[in-house]
Amino acid sequence: MLNSIWMSDLHFLAQGLVHGADPRKNLSAAISHINRHYADHEFCIISGDLVNQETAEDYNALKNHLDELTIPYFPMIGNHDDRNLIRTALPLPENCMQDFIQYSISADEGLILCLDTHKAGEVEGEFCQARLKWLKQELDAAQDTSIFIFLHHPPMDLGLPMLDPIKMQNGDEFLDLITTYNNVKYLFIGHVHRAISGTMRGIPFSTMNAISFQAPAPRPEWAWDGFKNDEAPKFGVMNIENADVNIKYTQFNDEPINTNV
Ligand SMILES: [Fe+2]
Repeated sequence: MLNSIWMSDLHFLAQGLVHGADPRKNLSAAISHINRHYADHEFCIISGDLVNQETAEDYNALKNHLDELTIPYFPMIGNHDDRNLIRTALPLPENCMQDFIQYSISADEGLILCLDTHKAGEVEGEFCQARLKWLKQELDAAQDTSIFIFLHHPPMDLGLPMLDPIKMQNGDEFLDLITTYNNVKYLFIGHVHRAISGTMRGIPFSTMNAISFQAPAPRPEWAWDGFKNDEAPKFGVMNIENADVNIKYTQFNDEPINTNV
């Protein structure tokens, strides 16, 4: 069995709040909870939006926080991130692509692929030909090994009016590729700041709550600058065994409602 942790959308800031949430307080609470209760888990994957504003100061402060984790962590890139700053500040696996924050993690239960869906200067995502080629090579080489894919941007609409326009813009191309293989078992998606599960062309997926601010349900209608951040942040406690995935959405702070608004 693979036991690990899934965090997403830290939106870390060295100073200040983001949509009313304190990213330092939330991340510290998450790390304390992991160290106290899940120190026997193998690693923590962080599915993008590591920082909120792409500054070296924020990445360096983030590293100081993440280094408090007693288990290894794997940082991924989101739309709020910068490739060069991630490379400079944070640890990455040796097999990471040269031009992208994209790499694989070999585990007893299968191969985990952490993808780079970042589109420089844009909030929406993309998966270019170089990254598609790398993915195809990994899928071809894996043969019958179970594949678990982490990515920041959803490759299709999720019925969230504020988020659907900023999904991966060539999601069909991505889904066309992975559905030609029958061993892609699960998609783990960031960016959404809310827990959603379902299937994409038959492949099961889940999104994860943010460590920072939460995105509300689509009704009543909301805007990025107007919603009330009143839901608790969570991370995922993830167990994989015989290609079956189990995710426990886990509240980690003492305060049930974020009162920083
Ligand atoms: Fe985010």
